[in-house]
Amino acid sequence: MQGIGRACGKIILAGEHAVVYGEPALAGSIDRWTQVKIQARPGPLEISTPNTPGTKLQDDPRLLRAFLCVLPEEGFSVQIQGDLWIGRGLGSSASLSTALIRAWNNLQGGTSSQSDLEQQVMQLETVFHGQPSGIDPAVILRQGLVRFERGARPQAQPLTPPKPLRLVVIDSGTAGDTAALVERVRSGHPENDGTIRAIGQLTHRIERALNTPDALGPLLTENHRLLQDLGVSTPTLDRIVEQVLQAGALGSKLAGAGGGGVVIALVDATCEASVLGSMSAAGYRAFATDLPTRATS
Ligand code: PMV
Repeated sequence: MQGIGRACGKIILAGEHAVVYGEPALAGSIDRWTQVKIQARPGPLEISTPNTPGTKLQDDPRLLRAFLCVLPEEGFSVQIQGDLWIGRGLGSSASLSTALIRAWNNLQGGTSSQSDLEQQVMQLETVFHGQPSGIDPAVILRQGLVRFERGARPQAQPLTPPKPLRLVVIDSGTAGDTAALVERVRSGHPENDGTIRAIGQLTHRIERALNTPDALGPLLTENHRLLQDLGVSTPTLDRIVEQVLQAGALGSKLAGAGGGGVVIALVDATCEASVLGSMSAAGYRAFATDLPTRATS
């Protein structure tokens, strides 16, 4: 008896951190995946991944606590696979949670409605991240580009720019700790309020500029400057942003909680190769991807 589930990753185009305080954020799914396979097997729960052979992931207390929200303590083994970078702001925990719940549903021959699934994923996200805004599950479950607003009833509005946005995604080489960075911004309250509101207003302008990449690029870079003001960037992230701009990117920012993780660069056909080339020459791993043009509501 076995069940398989898959889920994609996500990128925050604009509005991270401010979204925690009720401002809008824009985010899209990416074509990178987590796959979870659950198999019935006697004995205590075992969790493994071929990425780190021999590591007993069930020994990670936070991961185990999240998995036990879905699975019983005995009788199953879980294998995690995929090409989504872990801990880099690409939604790896929400992707893993979604894939796990889908695999469990698949094994049991059941289904969950979109809203039930979203609630279940949020429960696991709370184990991983404390008090997340909910943007990651909202995007990953809809697979598209959305405007997300937190609230009593979180809103995820599908966005439909005429053409996909072409991005280069660069790994800064270290992971950021989302819960710690959200806490750092919170502890800077209320001095950070002005910057948070400014990010909210900029996100509205970025949404209006989705149809015009030339206008969009500088606004994304402005978003990075505001994230610097919030104190969530790092010298490495800043250096990558400057380097991709020099290589011709239309705009660039950190994406996700910061403190490490990824930088995104908005590119077009004329600069994509030079941006990828400059990152590879500097020793960073990077890939190009499209943010899709539509989401399921
Ligand atoms: O690093 P990520 O992709 O998990 O970023 C989290 C985004 C924040 O706005 C910083 C936190 C949140 O819960 O929205």
